[in-house]
Amino acid sequence: MSQVADLEFVQDFIRMCEGGWRQGWHERNGGNASYRLTLEDIEAVKACLGLGGHAFGFAVGAPEPAAFDESGEWVSLGVEAPTLGGEWLLITATGSFMQNVARLPEQCLGIIELSEAGDAYRMVWGFEGDGRPTSEVSGHVLIHERKKAATQGAFRVVYHCHPTVINALGLALPHDAREITRALWKTMTECVIVFPEGVGVVGCLVPGSLELARATAEAAGEHNAIIWAHHGLCATSSTCDEAFGLAHVIVKAAQIYESACTLCAGPYFRQAISDEDLLRIAEAYGLTPNPKYL
Ligand code: 13P
Ligand code: ZN
Repeated sequence: MSQVADLEFVQDFIRMCEGGWRQGWHERNGGNASYRLTLEDIEAVKACLGLGGHAFGFAVGAPEPAAFDESGEWVSLGVEAPTLGGEWLLITATGSFMQNVARLPEQCLGIIELSEAGDAYRMVWGFEGDGRPTSEVSGHVLIHERKKAATQGAFRVVYHCHPTVINALGLALPHDAREITRALWKTMTECVIVFPEGVGVVGCLVPGSLELARATAEAAGEHNAIIWAHHGLCATSSTCDEAFGLAHVIVKAAQIYESACTLCAGPYFRQAISDEDLLRIAEAYGLTPNPKYL
């Protein structure tokens, strides 16, 4: 019988966490992430935990399956996401360090089941040692709800990190989606292709607050990546590789912007990608840049 941590979707998630750690985006317990399980993923987890009649069956002589406490206590989320009722999320544990996720997955990660009303969760697996989901769990749930609706269920990953240069950008530029999107788009040709919808921005809000959760979900209606002013970046996509890749492109663009500011002693570049160039590049890929940011 396989372990939950060995399942492919968990391994993909661990690789994303590890990748962010290697990039230096996760000081201390900074950052968190979640993945919305498919029905097949849920069946595979149930099989690992010895629940329900799973097609894989159980190997003779397999160790006793870990217990899933179906009477587990429901914990209120403080928000409602009815279209996520009954869904399961793989999510980082609050206070866990991304550097430890690969080594201690059962402690640093866990799986939660959402109530039918999508207003509470209970733990299914992981969170060993008295752990619980990230302090941003309500935000993750609201973002998943928004992206599930906006992408007909295609988006499954929410990844939050603390890259240094993203916070430098928030110190240097107004907290305005148009200003920041344009600064990033104009640094390299790939940006308008990877995020033609631009980058959302929310102001300086309390980490883990419902206010931050709601503001991010609102911005996620139109954007796949949202900058949290003086805090970090939140990227969403269909897979862990895509969510991580989106964050990576945005961070690289911000680094180019920062380098150019250093070379030019300020944001007065001798040349940047023009709006006409942006349109030409996007058109070649059959994409439409968000007209609000042109
Ligand atoms: P958690 O440890 O609760 O996930 O908090 C980390 C963080 O980055 C909050 O925004
Ligand atoms: Zn954070």
